Amino acid sequence: MQQKRILTEPLPQDERHEETCEECGQAFSTAVDQPLKESIFRLMDRRLYRERMKFDEAWRNLCDLCLDKQQERQRREDIEFAAAAKREKREFNWPNICPVIYRESDPARLPADAVKNWARVVDWKYQERGLILIGPTGAGKTRLCYALLRRLYVEQGHSCKLFKCADFAHELLEIASEGYGAKLRPWLKAICEADVLFLDDFGKMRFSEKVATELFGIVEKRTANGLPIIISTNDTSDTLADRMGDMSAGPLIRRLREFNDTITLTNKPQT
Ligand SMILES: Nc1ncnc2c1ncn2[C@@H]1O[C@H](COP(=O)(O)OP(=O)(O)OP(=O)(O)O)[C@@H](O)[C@H]1O
Ligand SMILES: [Mg+2]
Ligand SMILES: [Zn+2]
Repeated sequence: MQQKRILTEPLPQDERHEETCEECGQAFSTAVDQPLKESIFRLMDRRLYRERMKFDEAWRNLCDLCLDKQQERQRREDIEFAAAAKREKREFNWPNICPVIYRESDPARLPADAVKNWARVVDWKYQERGLILIGPTGAGKTRLCYALLRRLYVEQGHSCKLFKCADFAHELLEIASEGYGAKLRPWLKAICEADVLFLDDFGKMRFSEKVATELFGIVEKRTANGLPIIISTNDTSDTLADRMGDMSAGPLIRRLREFNDTITLTNKPQT
């Protein structure tokens, strides 16, 4: 019968286990003059590690060096796996964000300017300068923006807040009626801090003073923190100022002009 041993006592020479590494072919022993306690942890470590490995990999006998290398490889694989899983989750969530008509675009059906500017919009590199797409109805502004947002959100994992401007105003007023501290503040904070804010049909409605004030606050905070805004609008800055018609329009438009690149599109079809 085997005798019980005290944990810190070194493993006797004759109980060392000589093995051959299946990776590099070197001989190694599983308990080399280490205190028993340490070697037990080492063995536990190996077992825990092995349980996470693929079945055929799990029973390979490896020396410490090859085990470390394999552990490092496994760690990298885990990180890649987690990233792929997160991407898949965003892909899965995309239909909740993007209206069905904007999910696919047929290049042949896009207006000429939308085709010409496709790459400029859709391949826009994430940065603090945002984009304003200006053009008449049917120019493909919203379509281009959603193609870009898909890249930013699904492919690159940027957090995005998206609003049709009219919905933004309604949602804001509804949430504001439920109190600043409880609802409105966290709602505004999320919009201010998202990696990307997309405002579709900016200026298509007349803003109330409350909406204009909060919008100004959002634009101010985002530009101050170098966070981009993507806007689609039928308005040029002149008609927008006219529509907003209150004192915050000037500074708001100045900021939008200063911190965004403008792309103007017509709705002429391809010839
Ligand atoms: N499946 C499709 N693929 C590509 N283009 C399409 C498709 N369906 C419609 N279109 C074209 O897309 C354009 C409309 O796109 P979009 O809704 O983005 O315009 P918009 O500029 O946002 O207009 P609005 O100012 O009214 O919001 C139209 O020219 C239409 O012909
Ligand atoms: Mg649109
Ligand atoms: Zn080895």
